[in-house]
Amino acid sequence: MTPKDIDDLRPDPAGIDKAVAYLRAGDLVAFPTETVYGLGADATNDDAVATIFSAKGRPSFNPLIVHVANIDAARALAKWNDAADTLAQAFWPGPLTLVLPLVPGHGLSPQVTGGLDTIAIRAPAHPAARSLLSAFKLPIAAPSANPSGRISPTQADHVKEGLNGKIAAVLDDGPCPVGLESTIIDAVNLTLLRPGGVNVEQIEAVLGRPTAQRQTQDITAPGQLASHYAPNVKMRLNVETPNPGEAFLGFGLMDCDINLSAKGDLTEAASQLFEALHLLDKEGRTIAVAPIPEVGLGIAMNDRLRRAAAPR
Ligand code: TXA
Ligand code: MG
Repeated sequence: MTPKDIDDLRPDPAGIDKAVAYLRAGDLVAFPTETVYGLGADATNDDAVATIFSAKGRPSFNPLIVHVANIDAARALAKWNDAADTLAQAFWPGPLTLVLPLVPGHGLSPQVTGGLDTIAIRAPAHPAARSLLSAFKLPIAAPSANPSGRISPTQADHVKEGLNGKIAAVLDDGPCPVGLESTIIDAVNLTLLRPGGVNVEQIEAVLGRPTAQRQTQDITAPGQLASHYAPNVKMRLNVETPNPGEAFLGFGLMDCDINLSAKGDLTEAASQLFEALHLLDKEGRTIAVAPIPEVGLGIAMNDRLRRAAAPR
């Protein structure tokens, strides 16, 4: 694709129609989900899926999440089981991704799963994502709509800053309400592969048993690289008092440059995290981050912050 400006679409019927036309033509469309903006392509089209990897600069071994409208559509692609059913009934549509074996005849481009025999699948809750899925009728492969390794996009402007000239369109419906990516569960072994928008506590309550933790940093979720979500500037975590010249990202009542939640609310803080990192990254100062409690959504926030601060 030759560099050109991104077509800015609204989530109204005309915008959805145009987004569908781009997807049918094999072009990429960024769209809002409740977690972050996704970079969508027709999951059955090899060329379109290949374009996702080139637009993001993403390693081809790192598989994509497939977005579907509902459980029935998921069952056409993944070998369903009781745990998957329990979790999907409880949390779909919503910020939970299930990893399951692929079924024969799934029709997806093999690049979607990076050659694995499993698929990561979710039904998003965001109304614009749901309109797009129901109008397009096919599964949509969509990683987060950011250059590989950088901060995830929670607003259409973040997508444009990262991917202008590389994708056809963005469906703009304002900020993403959750602000952190989906939780990923291996629904065969009940292993937590990535903490995210659904708390692991809630998942374990619904399953009636604890989940296992990932034992290695390797390849059941190849995207779980140590350095990820990284701003250009340096970061320091669990800072009580920032050094002179640092930008202070706060949580709870304190004097700081940006407060994720003055009232110490983790849901509010999660929804602000990536936007705050995008803003502070532009200032060029080291970002010092106040301690975030390691409970509920704080677990997913600290996961992202540790990767953002990891040596690169
Ligand atoms: O909230 C989200 O999940 C967002 C929105 C757009 O849906 N998507 C997202 O995609 O975060 P991405 O590509 O940034 O992260 C997908 C993660 C990667 O860590 C990838 O390795 C993992 O899912 N993944 C994909 N397929 C997998 C599989 N078969 N087994 C294990 N992990 C898989
Ligand atoms: Mg991502």
